Amino acid sequence: QVAAASGHTVVLVDQSDEILKKSTKGIEESLKRMTKKKFADKPEAGAEFIEKTLKNLTTSTDAVAVVHSTDLVIEAIVENQEVKNELFKRLDKFAPEHTIFASNTSSLQITELANSTTRQDRFGGLHFFNPVPMMKLVEVIKTPMTSQKTFELLMDFSKAVGKSPVSCKDTPGFIVNRLLVPYMMEAVRLFERGDASKEDIDVAMKLGAGYPMGPFELLDYVGLDTSKYIIDGWHKLDPNNPLFAPSPLLNKLVEEKKLGKKTGEGFYKYK
Ligand code: 3HC
Repeated sequence: QVAAASGHTVVLVDQSDEILKKSTKGIEESLKRMTKKKFADKPEAGAEFIEKTLKNLTTSTDAVAVVHSTDLVIEAIVENQEVKNELFKRLDKFAPEHTIFASNTSSLQITELANSTTRQDRFGGLHFFNPVPMMKLVEVIKTPMTSQKTFELLMDFSKAVGKSPVSCKDTPGFIVNRLLVPYMMEAVRLFERGDASKEDIDVAMKLGAGYPMGPFELLDYVGLDTSKYIIDGWHKLDPNNPLFAPSPLLNKLVEEKKLGKKTGEGFYKYK
């Protein structure tokens, strides 16, 4: 959405037409929300902006078939190293020489993903934040193998889509998640110990720390499955770090498929 809205030609790829239809609808709704405010007194200009953005966007269920015409591939699939490696390995064979590969992974090592391809110098991290149309930050990750030219192109692309990039080494969680995920897990542990209710913890962090959402609202927003993938991965890397300890409550909710806002229930229920 943000790439198409800033004039880039985008092919959105997913596993089925049904998912793509849902995604396109979500993008249309998000664009409507944004233009309602941005073009409050010029509805025609708003409609034109939406039309122009949607013209830049096509969809496909066949990544291999469309990768030949790309300059940049941004992968944002399931947080699983093997599945990502497999995709990158396949795309590497069919992508043009100059094409840069980037992963939006929250927690996996970019270096390991890059090693599944033959273009380690044209590989980096581009980590966006939920909700991407609203959050101004992008973390740009340079591995020891990423070339300076690739890094600069990723920084330039981030600015061209209207974001403010920061750079970070290829370390677990980069900047934001390395601080945010342990904080959210500590909130779950506080609740699990019965020290405070989840509602009060959320109110406390909103009114006492000025956060726009409390930790439980944010966990539901990010997705409990995604949060669990992140913490499980770090726990495996560093089992003695108490900040990375898994939470029985989070595990139980994920097992029950209560994944947050996207499934209608997580820590809270949604209509
Ligand atoms: N698309 C377009 N516009 C949107 C939007 C979206 N998806 N979501 C919110 N907006 C805009 C709309 O303009 C909305 O106005 P509207 O009421 O007219 O629709 C405006 O934001 C305000 O939204 P709300 O009134 O619904 O609520 P808020 O004022 O609380 O703002 C928020 C929403 C921007 C999501 C804010 O709550 C926030 O900043 N929350 C924290 C988000 C955060 O921490 N994100 C990082 C998560 S970590 C992550 O992503 C990393 C990953 O790796 C795990």
